[in-house]
Amino acid sequence: MYGKMKDHLSKTIAEIKEAGLYKEERLIESAQQAAITVKGKEVLNFCANNYLGLSNHPRLIAAAQKIMEHRGYGMSSVRFICGTQDIHKELEAAISDYFRTEDTILYAACFDANGGVFEPLFSEEDAIISDSLNHASIIDGVRLCKAKRYRYANADMAELEKCLQEVQAQRFRIIVTDGVFSMDGNVAPMDKICDFAEKYDALVMVDESHSAGVVGPTGHGVSEQYNTYGRVDIYTGTLGKAFGGALGGFTTGRKEIIDLLRQRSRPYLFSNSLAPGIIGASLEVFKMLKESNVLHDKLVENVNYFRDKMTAAGFDIKPTQSAICAVMLYDAKLSQVYAARMQEEGIYVTGFYYPVVPKEQARIRVQISAGHEKAHLDKCIAAFIKVGKELGVLK
Ligand SMILES: Cc1ncc(COP(=O)(O)O)c(C=O)c1O
Repeated sequence: MYGKMKDHLSKTIAEIKEAGLYKEERLIESAQQAAITVKGKEVLNFCANNYLGLSNHPRLIAAAQKIMEHRGYGMSSVRFICGTQDIHKELEAAISDYFRTEDTILYAACFDANGGVFEPLFSEEDAIISDSLNHASIIDGVRLCKAKRYRYANADMAELEKCLQEVQAQRFRIIVTDGVFSMDGNVAPMDKICDFAEKYDALVMVDESHSAGVVGPTGHGVSEQYNTYGRVDIYTGTLGKAFGGALGGFTTGRKEIIDLLRQRSRPYLFSNSLAPGIIGASLEVFKMLKESNVLHDKLVENVNYFRDKMTAAGFDIKPTQSAICAVMLYDAKLSQVYAARMQEEGIYVTGFYYPVVPKEQARIRVQISAGHEKAHLDKCIAAFIKVGKELGVLK
């Protein structure tokens, strides 16, 4: 039987390759940090979600090691059977404290948090209104639920209002948005979204994966930036980006919502509990972020420095409001060639092109980190300029 399927799969893979869409994985031979080793050579990493530079932080490593001595390596259980330790509850409380919410539920990943949030809460009688650039995990989560689905163009408030007007007969309505959109680095206009939610009696959910730890005066995410505390009903987020970069996700928000998710959310009920090492290190992350804002301050300084120098050099940069700077090249092939040349110059970046971004919108997405030093940023900018001149992007 497999022979037939093997032929089919081989053909599909060949088609992906022919279209230039086959994704190769470059192997990193060091820890994840600003300077990494690839093929025995040191390069500077500008495409990790390591926004606060915590992925290889000694305090997190020590915290993970210490907690493993007391709480072990694995949980061997889902949460409700025998997979809940006191530290899982402590981390949930720390996340609620960070987002100023009533309760939090942990998942193995934010992909699971988004996959498991809609189906227990909404049914045929309800409507989900989703931004067109929302993450794949939100799209999949919505698919698993029977509610009516509506989509508005990215951050387009006129379209959102039209959707809200259309769904007034539904029992419940929810507006769902990413906090920061990962390809352009723009922030969802949460103040306006909350205004419309109140006007049309809808709930609000935001995925803080790229915004928590990054946006807002002290990096606490979109509600800090727009002062929408108390107006957002559900936040989802990841422990895999700014908050240490390992694994884990969460949903945080209204008490009754979280309560019901614990009873009914399938990725929570039927998947293993987060390992103690991750919980211990994540607790340390939230402790560090409470102690001081130095990491976030440095991130903001680095983003401003990079954006200003790149703009002055003549690059076309999407107006970033986060730690994501999209250097627009428009041409898919050029973005691949550019990224490859950057790696030769010691800078590790990735070109993004269709279908990840719209056609003729190819770019190199640069992600800035608090782990970058000025010398790293200068080296990256110099390489961008050198390659840009070589490839005719800059005059
Ligand atoms: C907006 C958004 N939501 C969810 C996820 C998934 O997060 P995790 O890696 O924790 O599954 C990502 C990761 O790329 C993301 O960018």
